Amino acid sequence: MGAPLAICVVGGGSIGMRHIGCAQASDLVRLSAVVEADAARRDALAAMGLPVVADIDAVPADTKAAVIATPTPNHAQVGLDCLAKGWGVLVEKPLTETLADADLLCARAAALGLPLVAGHHRRCHPFVAHARTRLQDIGDMVAVQGIWALRKHDSYYDVAWRRAPGAGPILTNLSHEIDLLHCLAGPITEVTAMNSNATRGFAVEDTSAISLRFASGALGTFILSDAGVSPWAFEAATGENPAIAVRGEDPLRFIGTAGALSFPTLQMWKGDGQAAPDWQHPLNKIAAPELPRVDAIAEQLDRFAAVVGGAEDDLIATGDDGRRTMQVLDAIHKAAHTGQSQAISP
Ligand SMILES: NC(=O)c1ccc[n+]([C@@H]2O[C@H](COP(=O)([O-])OP(=O)(O)OC[C@H]3O[C@@H](n4cnc5c(N)ncnc54)[C@H](O)[C@@H]3O)[C@@H](O)[C@H]2O)c1
Repeated sequence: MGAPLAICVVGGGSIGMRHIGCAQASDLVRLSAVVEADAARRDALAAMGLPVVADIDAVPADTKAAVIATPTPNHAQVGLDCLAKGWGVLVEKPLTETLADADLLCARAAALGLPLVAGHHRRCHPFVAHARTRLQDIGDMVAVQGIWALRKHDSYYDVAWRRAPGAGPILTNLSHEIDLLHCLAGPITEVTAMNSNATRGFAVEDTSAISLRFASGALGTFILSDAGVSPWAFEAATGENPAIAVRGEDPLRFIGTAGALSFPTLQMWKGDGQAAPDWQHPLNKIAAPELPRVDAIAEQLDRFAAVVGGAEDDLIATGDDGRRTMQVLDAIHKAAHTGQSQAISP
């Protein structure tokens, strides 16, 4: 193994702290600096013993890569600035605030020949990879049903950018879900949507009802809310985020021509022998094998470091994967705004 890769984390807030912890624990990465724009936050980070600096120009010269964990509206500019330093870049999700910014960031990384990774870390869970295998056993996909509904604590919204356009649960939370659906059910080609801000009353939505059409012909529905209380959300099912309570209920269901799969438990329903058991026949519940548990943010960081070092990786989300998710989020915003369904070109 070579020397650990020197990386900086830009933005020492909530998710930035998780990247910092993963970088400190990794054998493949060395934390060269934490770049933090806010003076009071810098003092707090320095008091934790972290190598904090005020801007990327003050980062040590041997730095080779950056993890960008700033508010979403800053992702594009900070990303461009980091690429201009010649660094490989991992940008937290969503890749950018707008689709136009995603296009710009991806084009710049490609022109400079630098790695650009979107922080859709869920792909790094072994149960996500295994879901792809198990979905092959439910026949052709017919439909998908998903929910992400967790009531965020009220002080979450004390931070101004989280209440304004550029945030909101479509960009902040559904971005993960859309990347996951792309991974498991293939490209989304059309959406309709209704948004509501009736519960929190902010400029951004707090609840959405979304319909999806996949390139395969399958249809999907998705309910999203950060104002309603429920056990149905990826983090509550998996316990992957230490700040979110575990409730253990499956938030995604895949329905196929030969059976069904619940996610992330990967419990499958299949008939006895028949290729496509009709409603007259019982279905058997088939449990999934035990799979290893990993910290997907740590796994993503190690894989990112390897990619910056020249390795190939077909698991983590590229900038283009992040841009494809942005296309869907942009279409959902437009569908909700216009009341018209929106087609998404591949
Ligand atoms: N992968 C995940 O599961 C996950 C979880 C939470 C947040 N996120 C994403 O991470 C990003 C940050 O979210 P958060 O909740 O951690 O935000 P936050 O507000 O808690 O932290 C952002 C930090 O960035 C700093 N900052 C702002 N502009 C900066 C700049 N130009 N240079 C350096 N520092 C700057 C702020 O002062 C703040 O400390 C968002 O895009 C969000 O969608 C991802």
